[in-house]
Amino acid sequence: MKLQAVVVLALLGVCLGAVFQDCPRHCTCTQSSFAGGQAKCSQLDRRERFPPDITHLTVANYPDERLPARLFVDLGLDGLLSIKLNNGSLMYINKDAFTGLNYLEDLDLSFNKIEKLDPHTFETIHLKRLNLDGNPLVMYDPQVPKEMQVFLYSDSLVELTLSQTKITSMEDVQALSKLTNLEFLDLSRNGLKELKDDMFSSLINLEEIDLSYNQISHIDRDTFADIEELTLLNLRGNPLKTLEGIEIPGLKDLDVSNCKFVMLAASTLEGFPELSSLNLSQNSILSIDMDTFMSVPSLKDLDLSYNNLRGPLNNLLFEFNKRLETLSFQGNSEIKYLPGFKGDFPNLYNYDISKCGLTGISNDTFSNMNYLVSVNVSGNSLVHIDPKTFSNLPNLVVLDLSNNLLHALHSKIFINNKDLTKLYLSGNFFKHLPPVLFQTTTKLHLLDVSNCRLTSLWNISESFMMRNRNILSKLVYLNVSGNKLTKLHTHYFISLQNLQKLDISNNPIECTPDFSHVMQWLIMKKVEPNKVTTERTIYGLDLIENNVKWDEILRGVCPTDAVYTNDHFVHPITETAPLLPVDNDDVVIPIIEETPLVWPMVLVWASIFSLLFALANIIGLMIYRSRRNYSGLGYRPQFASTLDGHFQVRRGGRPVYQKLYEECSIPAPVHDGKKVRIVAILGNALGGKSNVDV
Ligand SMILES: *[C@@H]1O[C@H](CO)[C@@H](O)[C@H](O)[C@H]1NC(C)=O
Ligand SMILES: *[C@@H]1O[C@H](CO)[C@@H](O)[C@H](O)[C@H]1NC(C)=O
Ligand SMILES: *[C@@H]1O[C@H](CO)[C@@H](O)[C@H](O)[C@H]1NC(C)=O
Ligand SMILES: *[C@@H]1O[C@H](CO)[C@@H](O)[C@H](O)[C@H]1NC(C)=O
Ligand SMILES: *[C@@H]1O[C@H](CO)[C@@H](O)[C@H](O)[C@H]1NC(C)=O
Ligand SMILES: *[C@@H]1O[C@H](CO)[C@@H](O)[C@H](O)[C@H]1NC(C)=O
Repeated sequence: MKLQAVVVLALLGVCLGAVFQDCPRHCTCTQSSFAGGQAKCSQLDRRERFPPDITHLTVANYPDERLPARLFVDLGLDGLLSIKLNNGSLMYINKDAFTGLNYLEDLDLSFNKIEKLDPHTFETIHLKRLNLDGNPLVMYDPQVPKEMQVFLYSDSLVELTLSQTKITSMEDVQALSKLTNLEFLDLSRNGLKELKDDMFSSLINLEEIDLSYNQISHIDRDTFADIEELTLLNLRGNPLKTLEGIEIPGLKDLDVSNCKFVMLAASTLEGFPELSSLNLSQNSILSIDMDTFMSVPSLKDLDLSYNNLRGPLNNLLFEFNKRLETLSFQGNSEIKYLPGFKGDFPNLYNYDISKCGLTGISNDTFSNMNYLVSVNVSGNSLVHIDPKTFSNLPNLVVLDLSNNLLHALHSKIFINNKDLTKLYLSGNFFKHLPPVLFQTTTKLHLLDVSNCRLTSLWNISESFMMRNRNILSKLVYLNVSGNKLTKLHTHYFISLQNLQKLDISNNPIECTPDFSHVMQWLIMKKVEPNKVTTERTIYGLDLIENNVKWDEILRGVCPTDAVYTNDHFVHPITETAPLLPVDNDDVVIPIIEETPLVWPMVLVWASIFSLLFALANIIGLMIYRSRRNYSGLGYRPQFASTLDGHFQVRRGGRPVYQKLYEECSIPAPVHDGKKVRIVAILGNALGGKSNVDV
């Protein structure tokens, strides 16, 4: 390892030193085998020269107003592929500034003070992408006859972004007419008020247009008529009320979120028969005609979030939208009731009905949506959920039921949701979470029960039942923050063998012997904590950031003058098994004094010991073999059994290591009359499987 590191460092040093001795004063040059040489400068000084293989140049905050002719070629930068010269004072660009840069493809001149460019600036090079965002461009000069208004000539330009450039009129846009190979045009955040018929008529190769955040309230019917390849149109954040009459036959992706739509009529989407993604989020839509989505049978993603939809919605709304994949009604708080939509939704995997004011859901809510993977019902007013509600969703992976008014869940509610991986239950009124709930959800990975009313997690019998049935044994993340937990018991965690993150913050946790043992366990298991606050805070723990260490939490909950000192905590190995606080008087926990908890070092030594033991046996066997004058007659089966008998790896039928393992483990409880006997829960939690031997 060390040697490799040294070699790598040496090579790096050689590369940097040898290649870039002559990087100019105001620059740093770096070499990357993927991207070629890069130079980052604060100034460009004509009298200096760059090393020959620089392909990417960045000048942040370019200090000069001018970019003189052949500057880059004179600097020895004729191999440049990209130039980024942004956020500076650049105003005038000589028409030959880039001449000779035959490989230049990307040019970023955003956020300078450029008003005008000579139309021929890029005519002789093969620029593909040009970014002029944030320049106060003057595209149109009333002095010049209209047919001579040309912003730029370029056959090669494919992408042009002109966001925040003060473009306001049809004439400004028409000045782009000589960029006939343009495929992507970004005119977002300008002052366009309307889109007119011939506006884009020369840009017939456009595929994507971004017109978001202008003031467009009207679009002429034939605005996009000449653009056959147009697949994406972004009109987000414009005061648009309708798209009636506009036809874009090949359009796949339409974003009209944040506009002013109030209703969707049967004809609203008729001009976009190929539509596959439609964003209508954050409009003021009150009603949707039953036939609106009939004209877009290819629709896959529909976002209707944050409108003013009122229930009940027509249950035939999506009757012909078999291809739906994602559907969101999030934040339409007046829906109150959602029907089971008629139709067939074999591709629908994501259904968001959060914040819809729903007071109830049932198995009907998800009927015909049998392939849902992610369901969000958060932020409604559900008091009760029918046990059959999720029964037709065998593929459900993520379920969010947070922020409702639930007091309990039926023990069979997840019985068909064997793939459930993430479950959010926070912000409800649960006092208890019966482990049987999770009996079938063996893949559960994340459980969020923060901000509920839990006073404890599981009692001892439940905990052991969980361990015996591997309930929650795959859980990685558990959030019980913001509950009313006062005691943390070691038995809570005996089934959670894979826990990696635990948030116990904002609980009135008390300092109990068990608490420090839980902390030990968490540290040994390398479980990550989140911040903690307790009512007995002495170190102002509520100010501690995420990722405080468990020992800090321990010190906060159990101040150093208490019995469980930090010192104690550092040497847990010398401690005897903890006395288990119990929920029930019937439970008696004997402590086995003669079995001090000495591990995991014990395991290490045991392994070494058994290896040595095995080695000794092999040597012994070889001596034995040679003494028996073992003949070369080939393999004899009976020899194998002799070998077994002699080769004493096993002792009393169990391998040495297994025995040691079990001795350090904690057996399951034995119900002996009404008594439960337990040996050192903690060790068990750490050790895993073991047998009862009390
Ligand atoms: C742009 O330049 C200004 C001053 O010239 C500076 O304060 C700001 O941090 C720069 N922004 C970026 C993104 O470089
Ligand atoms: C729809 O638009 C809104 C805001 O304009 C955005 O937040 C949301 O992510 C978009 N939805 C999709 C599915 O992209
Ligand atoms: C469910 O929706 C709420 C908002 O309504 C959001 O905050 C939450 O992150 C969503 N849950 C999931 C799992 O995406
Ligand atoms: C919903 O459950 C009711 C009875 O609980 C049953 O009659 C109905 O068929 C179920 N619907 C679906 C779609 O499974
Ligand atoms: C543990 O909890 C379960 C379910 O809440 C209850 O039935 C059982 O009596 C409890 N057992 C003990 C020992 O408290
Ligand atoms: C646990 O939940 C609380 C409240 O919902 C949240 O603030 C906290 O960030 C979550 N903890 C982690 C570790 O995600």
